[in-house]
Amino acid sequence: LLAELNSCQRCGLCAGRTQPVLGAGVPNSRIVIVGEAPGKNEDEQGKPFVGRSGKLLDQMLAEVGLYRDKNVFITNIVKCRPPENRDPSPEECAACREYLDRILTIIDPKVILCVGRISAQRLFDPNFRVTRQHGETREIDGRLVMGTFHPAALLRQPQNKPEAFGDFVALRQKITEVCEHTY
Ligand code: URA
Repeated sequence: LLAELNSCQRCGLCAGRTQPVLGAGVPNSRIVIVGEAPGKNEDEQGKPFVGRSGKLLDQMLAEVGLYRDKNVFITNIVKCRPPENRDPSPEECAACREYLDRILTIIDPKVILCVGRISAQRLFDPNFRVTRQHGETREIDGRLVMGTFHPAALLRQPQNKPEAFGDFVALRQKITEVCEHTY
């Protein structure tokens, strides 16, 4: 998959990338976290969520016993960095969708956590509004899906952190219900 991504030219984002960011974590995870798109640091390092928002994401995951080197896989809706960190366009998201679907087929998670509006609108509800629908869960294609705040948004609006933390606690509870109790 990475070899294919390295030569992918399905959308214009390939022109500006240093490298595509496939994802990182444990391939047999029961939980996949899906963000929006690589930023500057991710584009340079080839790994998702390695900047400031990634540190916050890792902290929130750790609070509920989830770690990218132990029991989660992290990826994004689009695999290449949009210029100036703009939102990926619907066309770019659609062009990249097959890669995400293949990752989900390979890992076959029981739970998907969408971080941010772009991800949740693609995987949870096309009209997803984070302030209204964060923490809701739905079963989609046999998987439990939840949308929550993007960590970059939480860095800008830290007053939402307690609500986001509540989502992670609820997620943990759901994981315990649908996965092995020891997860
Ligand atoms: N923001 C995202 O949505 N994904 C990343 O990988 C980094 C920042």
